[in-house]
Amino acid sequence: MQAFSLQDGRLCAEAVPLDRIAEQVGTPAYVYSRAAIEAAWRGFDEALGEHPHLVCYAVKANSNLAVLQLLARLGSGFDIVSGGELERVLAAGGEPQKIVFSGVGKTAGEMRRALEVGIRCFNVESAAELTRLNDVAGELGVTAPVSLRVNPDVDAGTHPYISTGLRENKFGIDIREAEAVYRQAAEAPHLSVDGVDFHIGSQLTDLSPIADALARVLELVDRLAEQGITIRHLDVGGGLGIRYQDETPPAPEDYARVLLDGLADRDLTLFMEPGRAVVGNAGVLITRVEYLKDGPEQRFAIVDAAMNDLLRPALYDAWQAITPVRPRPDGEALAWDIVGPVCETGDFLGKQRTLALAEGDLLAVHSAGAYGFVMASNYNTRPRPPEVLVDGDQFHVVRAREPLAELWRGEQLLD
Ligand code: LLP
Repeated sequence: MQAFSLQDGRLCAEAVPLDRIAEQVGTPAYVYSRAAIEAAWRGFDEALGEHPHLVCYAVKANSNLAVLQLLARLGSGFDIVSGGELERVLAAGGEPQKIVFSGVGKTAGEMRRALEVGIRCFNVESAAELTRLNDVAGELGVTAPVSLRVNPDVDAGTHPYISTGLRENKFGIDIREAEAVYRQAAEAPHLSVDGVDFHIGSQLTDLSPIADALARVLELVDRLAEQGITIRHLDVGGGLGIRYQDETPPAPEDYARVLLDGLADRDLTLFMEPGRAVVGNAGVLITRVEYLKDGPEQRFAIVDAAMNDLLRPALYDAWQAITPVRPRPDGEALAWDIVGPVCETGDFLGKQRTLALAEGDLLAVHSAGAYGFVMASNYNTRPRPPEVLVDGDQFHVVRAREPLAELWRGEQLLD
């Protein structure tokens, strides 16, 4: 669905003009579309049809409580990677029985809390983690449901920082060692083997690495069955890409077809952990042009959002569309570097963008619903922006702009 569109010369989120939101909450500000988030989640859920499945939204992509609440109400499961994300999901009304816990470095405290609330499964990433989880479960007198994250050694063909399924990556257990680790799990008194999982990378635009990974993991499932270890669910992780520029990522239906064809008639419940594809194109960052500056080599539009608000361009050289909230059809379009006020050369939101601009104009940085606010920091003592959720012709501030004093709360002057 098209969450952001021009209506009467103004860029709108659903039916709300973005300049109206900017007037009320100021800039920079993140704006999300409820309808787009819900449609994207349903797209995955419906694509899996009657096959037993659980769509576990990857909380790391956007963990605003209201976003989690919308998804919890749809019946979503959640993929978490920290005790903090666990508490967010619970606070938003998510069901513990639909939570899977991923991540290479779970602490004993995080394991304890997850066992107490009764999550669905731990996605375990090493033999050492398995030992610790068995100990913690034993102390609590409970049994921990486990899946092993295996590393299928496939090249996901994505940015090296977000590629996770190669042997040299820190993630998962080498697929050739997985049988031995499964035997360890099966013999551990306080663990019960439930599943197998993988996640080969993010922003995938091609299904073949996923199909390869699936085939390798299913061979493992069959080998385990021969040894009497029954796998009940298969978790294919997240990673389906979105269109930032001209990518053509597969639709959830095509993705689901590859998965369901791969499973054939195996009796395996399918879990998936999409993050970006649920929220990425459901959000924009709005920002105002403060100054226009002509450098000797380059024109700069200095805006009030910066790398601390949206890190992806600076960190991954990521390209995100930038469009005016009120386009100037008669203005002269020039090539601008859109940069923030932070004192780093890497502080840019976009380079060489051809736009007709004037000081005071509002811009929207698109595809900012995933890995946007969640990666924001307070660098340069900049408060993090507010988050706004649009619902039809209404909007709700679902996180207020951080008050400045919050930024040094907990700090202490010396006597
Ligand atoms: N499951 C696991 C185990 C993951 O590590 C991730 C993402 C996901 C699911 C969700 O992946 P998604 O469907 O969103 O691609 N900050 C980077 C992305 C890092 C992704 C890390 N893991 C970015 O801004 O592109």
